[in-house]
Amino acid sequence: MKKLIAGNWKMNGSAGTAGSLIWEVESKIQAQPDLLEECDFVVCPPFVHLETVKEKCRKVALGAQDCSQQKNGAYTGDISAAMLNDVGAQYVILGHSERRQYHKEDDKLVHDKAVAANAHGLVTIICVGETEAEREAGRQNEVVGAQMEASIPQTANHKNTVIAYEPVWAIGTGKTATADDIRDMHAFIRGQLSQKMADAAEVRVLYGGSVKPSNAREIFSVPNVDGALIGGASLKADDYIGIAAATLS
Ligand code: PGA
Repeated sequence: MKKLIAGNWKMNGSAGTAGSLIWEVESKIQAQPDLLEECDFVVCPPFVHLETVKEKCRKVALGAQDCSQQKNGAYTGDISAAMLNDVGAQYVILGHSERRQYHKEDDKLVHDKAVAANAHGLVTIICVGETEAEREAGRQNEVVGAQMEASIPQTANHKNTVIAYEPVWAIGTGKTATADDIRDMHAFIRGQLSQKMADAAEVRVLYGGSVKPSNAREIFSVPNVDGALIGGASLKADDYIGIAAATLS
């Protein structure tokens, strides 16, 4: 299966920098077309830059960082899955730990957002992961298992769902989980998926948390790692493409 190289731009940039970043990324892919044999690409800019980025997307798919669970109506400030589909988004990140933490999103809400997203043809990137305290207490499987159980909808399959394992303590901190930790968790996640879906072996499971060009090769060599969800390093075209290049032999 091709690796999914997903860039989460978070709340960064202007229309100008978003436009130049996607342009640089596309140029680098064009200069190194063998990357497309190994990787699929998606970038998730802030909502207001989706259209700017879409205009320049050629090989890279467009994604958003969140969507509403509601269809439409009096929900000030929210963006529906239908609106994302309308501007050309194909993916949406849901349940990122920053949304869980700063916006009090819980698994039920992530589940309902995923149902809405799938109903409008979006592929969800559902994020799960334990905090440092939970890992220290040895509770990582229990926590991630519970998140998966409650947030992945019944209708999920390998075409409409991607899982991203992001240990909260590794996001934006420069700390990465060890290859052994990633192997154990990704195997656990695959096992959980196979209890839920017939096509579990084909569902992409991404790793996220301080992925960079220097650690990408090791991370991608871990069984059941089908790509990366990249924050900070996705804001530099060289680093983002450098991570993708780690899939080449
Ligand atoms: P990071 O973020 O790569 O900056 O650690 C990853 C994420 O939050 O998706």
